[in-house]
Amino acid sequence: MKKNLGIIIASLIVIIGVFLLVFLQNRNMPGQLPDVSMTEPTEEADKEQVTIEPSPLPIPPLLEDTSNDPDKAEFELNAQNGSKEFLPGKEIETMGYNGDYLGPVIQVRKGQDVSVEVNNDLQDDLTTIHWHGLELDGENDGGPHSGIQAGESWTSEFTIDQPASTLWFHPHPEEQTGRQVYKGLAGLFYIEDEESDQLDIPKDYGENDVPLVIQDRRFDTEGNADYDLVMPDVMNGLQGNTMIVNGEINPYLEVPQGMMRLRLLNGSNARVYELNLSNNEIFHQIASDGGFLEEPVEMDELRLGPAERAEILVDFSQFEAGETAKLLNDGSDFMTFVVGNDEGEEFEVPSELTEVEKIDPDEAATTREFVFQGMGPNVNINGKQMEIDRIDEELELGNTEIWEVSNDSGMGMMNGTVHPFHAHGAQFQILDRDGKAPAANEAGWKDTFLVYPGEKVRAIATFEDPGVFMYHCHILEHEDAGMMGQFEVK
Ligand code: C2O
Ligand code: CU
Ligand code: CU
Repeated sequence: MKKNLGIIIASLIVIIGVFLLVFLQNRNMPGQLPDVSMTEPTEEADKEQVTIEPSPLPIPPLLEDTSNDPDKAEFELNAQNGSKEFLPGKEIETMGYNGDYLGPVIQVRKGQDVSVEVNNDLQDDLTTIHWHGLELDGENDGGPHSGIQAGESWTSEFTIDQPASTLWFHPHPEEQTGRQVYKGLAGLFYIEDEESDQLDIPKDYGENDVPLVIQDRRFDTEGNADYDLVMPDVMNGLQGNTMIVNGEINPYLEVPQGMMRLRLLNGSNARVYELNLSNNEIFHQIASDGGFLEEPVEMDELRLGPAERAEILVDFSQFEAGETAKLLNDGSDFMTFVVGNDEGEEFEVPSELTEVEKIDPDEAATTREFVFQGMGPNVNINGKQMEIDRIDEELELGNTEIWEVSNDSGMGMMNGTVHPFHAHGAQFQILDRDGKAPAANEAGWKDTFLVYPGEKVRAIATFEDPGVFMYHCHILEHEDAGMMGQFEVK
């Protein structure tokens, strides 16, 4: 009886939610700032240009490794409160690592023993720091069990035992991840190895090898970007009205008249990006989440879900000095490349990059199912919402498993919602999407992949690190609402 009442109340919440969602999306926000599109996303107004003056793209600093031993690397990160002017003349409160917004880039080498001391200098927030994409034991992974109280520190130690890749780090406290990431806590984590040394591709950090942390923020009429969730955010995750790259609205980057390597991270809370260059200029994707692809994939459009990474090569050698190219999401530009007259070093797109040894599905000890279900406050996986004291899946150390992830969420209600699936501590290979082989740019190592409504994605991984890890939807509002579970490897 009580249970029925619960279901009725939950259904009512969902119905009211859907009603509000439709209502809010069709309503124009009053008192718009002249510069910034203020309407809710997902409709035409979403494509409006942000017209604040372009400013140079900030390049995050490389974090100093304080160890003298080449086999070791030691870093220090401080999570701290800050402030930042996103819009001219309007300073707002932010959070950052060792700075006001975002964090430095940590660069390590395969084989190194790494230790990172994380100080929580935030005023009142408990935080954690999670190494997204890293293969390491659960104790050092920085999930919700590794909370650092304000004023305290935590040291994470691990050995790098995976190929060159562009990973990242961000907080992971229970129910607060969305807010802390939105405020600015996130940074990139590069692994280099002999292969990445040897490849003839751009490697000069900040010159021809540049990180682009792509996010969206919702500025209100006052220029604030508060983390106040309204019903559409609870349903779809917080989607902003303004794109930012490395923390800057409408940035430009001067590039040589040659090859650029761009390391893209979708660092947004919820939005899926459809990226392309002006004139549908072609580019080559060379790496996915967990490292290099076997060979470069030529493309003119790249879809990047929350938390996914892609490294791309863009050739500006055919451009005239002074010419520009834009980077667009869903048809509207948010960043400009200005081509200089310096040709830089000459590069060609390599014909091959690495060997990704295919994991044999016959070696899988089990197939495990994960089903995204529910909407808004009811989002769950396999009918369960996150419980910190409950282990949902038990795995045997060293086993290979197939994870079959499907999306029944919101089915029959509207068109359903896409959910990016992510698991900690392992890198996967996608076997198939609805029985079909993955696209060439998804054929390498993946730790996060989109699962569309009604779709079933099969991925395979070998679990070589012990401990308790999370799997979850990487729409941070869904994760915070409980669309997360725990697996233990032992
Ligand atoms: Cu990017 Cu559980 O994290
Ligand atoms: Cu992760
Ligand atoms: Cu989700």
